Order: sequence, then C-alpha cells, then structure tokens
Amino acid sequence: MSNGSSSGEVPVLEVRHLGRTLALGEERIEILRDITFRIPPGEFVTLMGPSGSGKSTLLGCITGLDTPSSGQVFLNGTDVSSMRESKLAGIRNRTVGMVFQAFNLIPTLTARENVEVPLYAGAWKGSPSARAEELLGLVGLSHRMEHRPSQLSGGEQQRVAIARALATQPPLLVADEPTGNLAAAQGKEVLDLLWQLKQTLGTTFVIATHDASVTHYATRMLQLADGELVDDAAGPRAAPG
Ligand SMILES: Nc1ncnc2c1ncn2[C@@H]1O[C@H](COP(=O)(O)OP(=O)(O)OP(=O)(O)O)[C@@H](O)[C@H]1O
Ligand SMILES: [Mg+2]
Repeated sequence: MSNGSSSGEVPVLEVRHLGRTLALGEERIEILRDITFRIPPGEFVTLMGPSGSGKSTLLGCITGLDTPSSGQVFLNGTDVSSMRESKLAGIRNRTVGMVFQAFNLIPTLTARENVEVPLYAGAWKGSPSARAEELLGLVGLSHRMEHRPSQLSGGEQQRVAIARALATQPPLLVADEPTGNLAAAQGKEVLDLLWQLKQTLGTTFVIATHDASVTHYATRMLQLADGELVDDAAGPRAAPG
C-alpha cells in the first residue's frame, strides 16, 4: 500500500472526501462516493475500474470540466473546489493538462497552432510559436509541425495532444483512455513517451484506462468500483523504499 504521505512534499493532487451525485428525475444517483487520495510529485498513476465506475467523472472533477457535489480537490496545495470560475481558469491552465481518448485537436489548425492554443489562453510569457516547436520536438514531431490533424496518424495526433497538454508546463497531466483509439504498437509508443516525459520533465501523470498494458508503467494504481475507491497500491515501477 502506498498512500504517498510519507514525505512532507505538497501533493500535486489531493482529493478529499469527493462525492458526485446527479439528479435523474426523482432519483439521486451517487456517481462518486467519498473518494480520498493524495499524489506526490513524479508519480505515474493508473486509474482503473469497470465501465461506469466513475473514472471519467473523477478526472472531470479534477480538471474542472465537472463540479464535485461534496469534498475538495487540491492542485499543488490550492483548493480549486471552492474557487470562483474566473480565478480557476488561470490556475487550471498552469497546473493541469488533459489528454483525451479521441485526441480532441482543432481540425482547422496545424499541429503547431494546436499546441499554441493554451499558451495564448494563459498568456504565456515567451513566444508561443517557439514553445510549440520545443514541445513538438519533445514528442518527436518536429517534422510534422505544419500538418493538420487529418494529415497525421492517430499516434501522431495523440502526441500533438500531449504536447498541447504540457505546453504551459503543468505539474500534472491527466489522461482519459489515451491509448483507447490506438493500435497496440502506437499505444505503446505513446506510453513510452509519457514515461520519458515523466523522467525528463518531472510531470506527474494520472491515467484512466481499461488497457492492462498501461499498468506496466504504473508507480501507483488506483482502482474504482461503483463510484468508490476500492484499492490504492504501489505499481510495478514504484520507487523502492
Ligand atoms: N450526465 C450524466 N447523466 C447521468 N448519468 C451519468 C452522467 N455522466 C455519467 N453518468 C453515469 O455515471 C457513471 C460513471 O460514469 P463515468 O463515465 O465516469 O464512468 P467510467 O468509469 O469513465 O466508464 P468508462 O470506462 O465506460 O469510460 C455511469 O453510471 C454513468 O452512466
Ligand atoms: Mg470513462
């Protein structure tokens, strides 16, 4: 069991007693119940569980796409669950990147322009164009910068999406089924890339997945069942000690 609380480090992500309920007609459905965990910097966390167990809902509550009904979410020590929307947008832009199963690139923009989007949104201090080039180099796509998504393979599109998610240098990257739309070989390339980015940039990863091969990379494994956190264990790549 690893609960990540051994060091005094501020966790990159902390979730406290998080609940999410939805009203469906007369009924109230509890999608997430009393979820509590903390993730210190540098972990590679997998979030697994059956379809409908609440993985995407939990990621949504972390990234701000969804709002918890109860409990708190701390990003780098800041309670974002009690924050006003105007202030929140900037914090999210700097602290958490998001990658989706379907890549979600803007089809009319080139790879470079897609990576620049969060830099303009967040008023990046340096040159967005230079930063986009740097990021696309990091994900091995220097030769594809002026391509549009339709001119890229699935694996390449996902690498652009990863570059975009990391553009503002967030300490946390959250991914929902990042290999779900990829063939096994392409999926492995993407996972090797994420692991390499963890090593070189120190980024912390939380990855929701059904893909058992993702767990080979895990330093930590969270398991949801029916909206509850039922397991929180060290993964095969957990640091010794
Ligand atoms: N807007 C909504 N209205 C009603 N129910 C919802 C809504 N969003 C999610 N749910 C329900 O919440 C539960 C959790 O859904 P969620 O998408 O988080 O699961 P998941 O673990 O990501 O599943 P999958 O592995 O299929 O992606 C499901 O039972 C789903 O039907
Ligand atoms: Mg899901």
